[in-house]
Amino acid sequence: MKLVKLGYVQLGVKNTEPMINYYKDIMGLSVITEASNGSAYLSSSIDHHNIILTPSDQPGCMRVGFQLSKDSSLKEAAEELASHGITSEIKSNVHPGISELLEFTDVVGNMVQLYEEMEYSGVGFKRSGIVPFNFNHVSFQFPLEEQQRAIDFYRNVMGFHVTDWVENIITFMTCNSYFHVLNFIVSDQKKMHHLAFELEDWNHMARAHDLLAKKNIPILWGPTRHGAGHPISSYHHDPDGNLVELTFGIDTYNMELGYVEPRPWHEDYPQRPRAWNPDEMLSKWSTPFGFDLVK
Ligand SMILES: [Fe+2]
Repeated sequence: MKLVKLGYVQLGVKNTEPMINYYKDIMGLSVITEASNGSAYLSSSIDHHNIILTPSDQPGCMRVGFQLSKDSSLKEAAEELASHGITSEIKSNVHPGISELLEFTDVVGNMVQLYEEMEYSGVGFKRSGIVPFNFNHVSFQFPLEEQQRAIDFYRNVMGFHVTDWVENIITFMTCNSYFHVLNFIVSDQKKMHHLAFELEDWNHMARAHDLLAKKNIPILWGPTRHGAGHPISSYHHDPDGNLVELTFGIDTYNMELGYVEPRPWHEDYPQRPRAWNPDEMLSKWSTPFGFDLVK
């Protein structure tokens, strides 16, 4: 199976109006559709949606959507999953903007949707709010004993590459040229850990932080440069308490050659997937923070 893109997450939302206002007015995404079930579909620029906000008693990630490459089909993906004992179902008109998708539960219980095509929103970028380049990656946490099963599934069945890892703490994986579109964090809890949006540079980060400060949203951790993937990142909570990462300068991964494009701040030349120690993975600059990012 070949995936090319992390398309969207569907979040269950408890505080519906504050959550829609946060992703619309503060994050600077555009509301494309408000469905009859109360779900709001928001786009960062060209996709019909990157974030789906669905009223729910249980906040957090309900589903994650990936786009298949042009030479893969839903039917072939279903057959591939079946050959590994995973039951899936092709569904029509589940979300506006996607005519057909394949839905299944992965080996650690996350609901996944695959699609061949999504309509373009045509809205471009907003002029107010943080206005990220894209919805960049999503992170899930689950127990250690399930980590290898998940890594093997995403690598061997879904076609991901492992790009970096910290033994028994975190594993980074990608299906395209971003350093990662997924990471798995070891935890006793089982839930989404964070979702991340890509910014342009330090100026964009500063403007974003000034806006968050004006809205009385504290920065919990960062900005500092992570080791793995080398992005400069900060973290805050959305109104439902989901951890949101703002990030820029993340490594570009060359899937064919198995290394990231060289940068002056890299440790190795070429910089290939590697194990990190926890402190270096969190902050290359040894920046101390009171917030435990991988709890
Ligand atoms: Fe992240």
